[in-house]
Amino acid sequence: MNSGSRFRIAGIPGDGVGQEVVAAGRQVLDALAAGSAGAFGFDWQEFDWGCGYYTRTGRMMAADGLEALRDFDAIYFGAVGWPGVPDHVSLWGLRLAICQNFDQWANVRPVRFLPGVRSPLRKADDTSLDWVVVRENSEGEYVGMGGRNFRGRGPGGEIAVQSALFTEVGCERIMRFAFDLARTRARRKVSSVTKSNAQQYGMVLWDEVFARVAGDYPDVETESVLVDAMSAKFVLHPEDLSVVVASNLHADILSDLGSALAGSLGLAASANLNPERRFPSMFEPVHGSAPDIAGQGLANPIGAVGSAALMLSHLGLPEQAARLEAAIAATTAAGVLTRDLGGTASTKDVTNSLIDAL
Ligand SMILES: NC(=O)c1ccc[n+]([C@@H]2O[C@H](COP(=O)([O-])OP(=O)(O)OC[C@H]3O[C@@H](n4cnc5c(N)ncnc54)[C@H](O)[C@@H]3O)[C@@H](O)[C@H]2O)c1
Repeated sequence: MNSGSRFRIAGIPGDGVGQEVVAAGRQVLDALAAGSAGAFGFDWQEFDWGCGYYTRTGRMMAADGLEALRDFDAIYFGAVGWPGVPDHVSLWGLRLAICQNFDQWANVRPVRFLPGVRSPLRKADDTSLDWVVVRENSEGEYVGMGGRNFRGRGPGGEIAVQSALFTEVGCERIMRFAFDLARTRARRKVSSVTKSNAQQYGMVLWDEVFARVAGDYPDVETESVLVDAMSAKFVLHPEDLSVVVASNLHADILSDLGSALAGSLGLAASANLNPERRFPSMFEPVHGSAPDIAGQGLANPIGAVGSAALMLSHLGLPEQAARLEAAIAATTAAGVLTRDLGGTASTKDVTNSLIDAL
């Protein structure tokens, strides 16, 4: 899809701090490319989709938006959501529309502990912690099946059904992805998150597929942990984690917990991958549009820049990804920290420090 060493990237900053962190990430990526003596570069096209676009047009993205995105090498996304537009409208109208239509079924969310960042976990002071949450990103609890409004029951009697869909194919592909990832890591272990004690259909299928797939990876250690116990484990025994594979909802919640334990939601990066590369993959920070701090230059750009590093790996530039990761670590180690990390640096200060560190 890319012509020579140039990559076509679709930027979708979205709403609130999404705009600030995507601008920062673009600046850092362009600086990296500028230093490559022409070895690679990025051709950006930015799309103004999001809640502002919705207010003007009644749509979160252009009617032919998916067509417009289809031929890009990757999508670099900020965040979506703004007061005045219901969150389910903004999320389904843009982010989930892209993830689901482009079959970005693997969502990779590393939990990285950075030098110079204080974790609320005392254990992090003297223990090396590093794990990845692999989230099933195409079905499960976010498949969007259900309905509401049995009007015949009258006011106060409404009913809503929200179903979760688990398919053997969907479970198997995300589990194989997790096992393959574990084989690339120092600790070859996959922890499966379940709730099969209470959810006797979908989660039992999840467990059965996990046990079957594990049989093909005898060199990888495994465990199956209930989601409630796993949330405790994130806090009490995170040193025992390497790759954590979970359903859409479970991983969504657990990865926010992981990033909070690492110091801030503003640090967390993610990749929404279509591993078969039939469609572009999408890279975005885990956080939302943060209306409480938007427009003030306070947003931490590290989650977005870490997502750019995941994008570089996906584009076949792993050394450049490592350079970006090193620049992130150098910046936090030097104490250039935004307010969410207890510092006073602005988005711009952190961006400049990242560029200097490159
Ligand atoms: N992927 C997405 O696009 C996504 C994800 C989560 C929430 N949302 C949307 O974002 C809006 C706000 O949701 P929310 O408040 O629950 O979550 P949020 O992630 O926007 O904010 C949660 C807290 O984290 C802080 N925070 C978030 N990003 C930060 C950053 N880069 N630097 C420093 N601090 C940061 C915020 O100030 C806030 O205190 C809602 O409309 C929601 O639907 C979108």
